[in-house]
Amino acid sequence: MKIGVLTGGGDCPGLNPVIRATVRTAHHYGYQVMGIENGWKGLVENTARPLDLGAVSGIIHRGGTILGTSRTNPYGDPAKLEKLKSHFKSLGLDALIVIGGEDTLGVAAKLYKDGFKVVGVPKTIDNDLSGTDFTFGFDTAVNIAMEAIDRLHSTAESHHRIMVVEVMGRHAGWIALHSGIAGGADLILIPEIPIRINEVLDVIQRRQRRGKQFSIVVVAEGAKFEGSEVLVGKKLDDFGHSRLGGIGELLAQKIEESTKCETRVTVLGHIQRGGSATAYDRVLGTRFGSKAVELVRAGQFGQMVALKGTEIVSVAIEVAVGKLKTVDPSFYEMAKVFFG
Ligand code: F6P
Repeated sequence: MKIGVLTGGGDCPGLNPVIRATVRTAHHYGYQVMGIENGWKGLVENTARPLDLGAVSGIIHRGGTILGTSRTNPYGDPAKLEKLKSHFKSLGLDALIVIGGEDTLGVAAKLYKDGFKVVGVPKTIDNDLSGTDFTFGFDTAVNIAMEAIDRLHSTAESHHRIMVVEVMGRHAGWIALHSGIAGGADLILIPEIPIRINEVLDVIQRRQRRGKQFSIVVVAEGAKFEGSEVLVGKKLDDFGHSRLGGIGELLAQKIEESTKCETRVTVLGHIQRGGSATAYDRVLGTRFGSKAVELVRAGQFGQMVALKGTEIVSVAIEVAVGKLKTVDPSFYEMAKVFFG
């Protein structure tokens, strides 16, 4: 049996542990693994290399992906799709393990419908894929953001400033909410709940009345101000997504104007995605990679590995990409008790 493996979309701590587990589990069963380079682009361009045990030795602690990644969407171009399908066959792949988020797995779901044997592994620091309780990479991103919030507390307090921390989270506020709760943020703003500037000011002023001359505001990059997301530019990627960024700065300006309190912005950006994964993400990634090979072995294609409670299970890839998993309003309501 020959299994292909690829990593697509934004990179994410834990990718290498998944690749390693895939190769080692496949090797355990005597299967060969081909590493497809740079996501779907690698299948379009036929850039693949065999992955043996040596190729995955010493990578569990490494960030990024040894295979490289891209945001190529083969379904956006019939010529690319044709090449991809022909290379899938010429490489002699009996199955393909696709490690990706909403977009990459969306392509996997379509390929499965077109008759290709694929298995998915849910990846995104944003934790916004349905069908799984958690995606790997999320825990690492949350811990990085929490540490930043911890550090910002002391400088905010020394200078009596308001610190706005912009974290990732395109459609869902999971990173903002978890890191904000863990870091004791005074206010958390997420894409699911439109920002009301009066409420923001109210929280800060309530703290000031209690004698607290500093505040920490955590905002997800996708949080909406006056109904819209704040974008870096107009350029769209292959999947039609614009680049988000700037909500932190915009918010800081509004806060400073109204409160007359010095306000600073920290944009954590790709720091949340870089570097090695936490122990939790390494273990989750290892369990996901291992289960993906088991699904191939059992012929359960069109499925994605998933975490349900403490169990690793499988769900249809379509379930995961059909609807994004956003923050439950009741969870946000709970967090609001700690605001101010
Ligand atoms: O999907 C994960 C994510 O980290 C989003 O939160 C963010 O908007 C996006 O990737 C940024 O990706 P890049 O700048 O690498 O294209």
